[in-house]
Amino acid sequence: MQIFIDSADIEEIRDAAAMGVIDGVTTNPSLVAKTGRPFKDVLVDICEVVDGPISAEVVSTDYDGILGEARELAKMHDNIVVKVPLIAEGLKAVRTLSGEGIRTNVTLCFSPTQGLLAAKAGATYVSPFIGRIDDISGNGMELVEQLVTIYRNYGLETRVLVASIRHPVHVVQASLIGADVATVPHKVIHQLARHPLTDIGLERFLADAKKIPPS
Ligand code: G3P
Repeated sequence: MQIFIDSADIEEIRDAAAMGVIDGVTTNPSLVAKTGRPFKDVLVDICEVVDGPISAEVVSTDYDGILGEARELAKMHDNIVVKVPLIAEGLKAVRTLSGEGIRTNVTLCFSPTQGLLAAKAGATYVSPFIGRIDDISGNGMELVEQLVTIYRNYGLETRVLVASIRHPVHVVQASLIGADVATVPHKVIHQLARHPLTDIGLERFLADAKKIPPS
């Protein structure tokens, strides 16, 4: 499974990239707004740090508007993947963009039927928002399982990009199901790396190292 970082914060992205565990980046307008910086400046910086797919989201909701924004974003860098909302106008735009060779990440997917349509429209990635489903007492992982099964049943090439991840168990479950990508917040990436027994073991080794006589 590929791991993307779900962030627009360049320091977080640099930190995770330095660990060598990042295959790509996803952003959204809420994450960009948190940085307090202009959208395109943020994208330029990210493209310099990570050599992999970088999702940048449109804010138009009509076909022409989505297409215009998408083409402009795609022109910025070969690694840009245009994030398009899973609405009817978005699907129309995805179909056109796919014909033009522009990669898309169809976002805000909350049902298997939405995911099936996104794949038929030619989406490169589809993003089920699992944490938000869990938030309203649903089962986000069930949607991931359904999408992986549907795409496999029909040889659809759209990749399942698990989004709205909140904790390490989401990452484990996504990888056991066979999702293609998990996009993971910076904090959760660090949680994935940590284990209390590693910390305790390291503390002991360092303490014992001090007892070794110098040569
Ligand atoms: O990639 C989409 C993701 O950022 C949404 O996460 O935590 O706002 O539901 P969240």
